[in-house]
Amino acid sequence: MASAGMACSVGSPMPDTPPVLVGRVGMPYNPGMTDAPSEYDQLISAAGQLVAIEGLLGADFVPARPQSLPQLQQPAQPAGQAPTGATMTRDQKADALGEMDANEVKGCVKCGLCKGRTNTVFGEGDPDADVVFVGEGPGADEDVTGRPFVGRAGELLTKMITAMGLSRRQVFIANIVKCRPPGNRAPAPEEVAACWGYLVRQLQIIAPKVIVTLGNPSTQALLNTRVGITKMRGTFQELPHIGPDLEGIRVMPTFHPAYILRQYTPENRRKVWSDLQQVMAALSLTVPDRK
Ligand code: URA
Ligand code: SF4
Repeated sequence: MASAGMACSVGSPMPDTPPVLVGRVGMPYNPGMTDAPSEYDQLISAAGQLVAIEGLLGADFVPARPQSLPQLQQPAQPAGQAPTGATMTRDQKADALGEMDANEVKGCVKCGLCKGRTNTVFGEGDPDADVVFVGEGPGADEDVTGRPFVGRAGELLTKMITAMGLSRRQVFIANIVKCRPPGNRAPAPEEVAACWGYLVRQLQIIAPKVIVTLGNPSTQALLNTRVGITKMRGTFQELPHIGPDLEGIRVMPTFHPAYILRQYTPENRRKVWSDLQQVMAALSLTVPDRK
C-alpha cells in the first residue's frame, strides 16, 4: 500500500491490495444484472429494506418492494459515430471507467491532495446506473480501502439506497475529489477544479437519468451555484452545461449522510426520505405508501 506523504510523482502503486476496479470492489459486480432474484433473495432484500427504513427514517414508512430498475431502451447508434454514454453497452462503460481509473486517476498528481493520500477513490457501482450519488471526497476509511462511502456516513448512505429498494450494485457512488482532503476538510476550489474532469467523464460514460448530490460541495459544484444545501434540497434541478451530453440531467440535492448523522432529527430524516422518494418517482420506482 502506498504510504501517506509519498512523492506524488510515484503515483499510487498498491501491490498488496486488490485493484479497485469498477464493479469488482467488495461486492461482485453482475454486469448484465440478468439474474432474476429468487423468492428467497426477495424476502431477504425486503427484510433488509424494512430494517433500513426503520433505522434511517423511523417506523412510519412502509417499505417499497425490492425492485430492479426499469430496463432502458438502448437507442440505436447512428452509423459512423463514436459511442457516447447514451449508446455504450454496460461492458463498454465498465471498460472506459476501468481504464480511466487505472491509467489516469490512480497515478494522478494534478493537485496537492495526492501528497496525503493512501489510495485514490475512483467510485464504484453499476457503470450503467440510472442514478449516481456524488459525495464530497474520501474520508479516512475510504482513503485506506480505496472505496467510496465505507465509513459511518457510508453505512447511512447504504441504508438510504436500501430504503429506495435498491442496492449499492445498482447505483454508482462517486465523489467530487478522488483523494482525501487532510483532516476531512472540504476540498478547496482549486482541488475541485483539478479533479473536475474525472467526474464529468464518469457522468458522460454512465449517462445516468438522475444525479443525487450529497451536501454542499457536490451540489454547488455540479449546479454551479453558491446557494446552500438547506435551500437547494428537495427540488429537482437540471444539470447545467458542464460537458457534452450532460445538460439537463435531473439533479436532486439532499443532505450529506455525515450531516444527517450529526443532526439526526426526525425532521432531517423525513426530509432526506422525501428527497429520495422523489428520485424513486423520477426513476419509475414504486414509492412506498404510508400506512
Ligand atoms: N464522505 C464523502 O463525501 N465521500 C465518501 O466517500 C465518504 C464520506
Ligand atoms: Fe488528481 Fe483528483 Fe487526486 Fe487531485 S484529488 S490528485 S486531481 S485524483
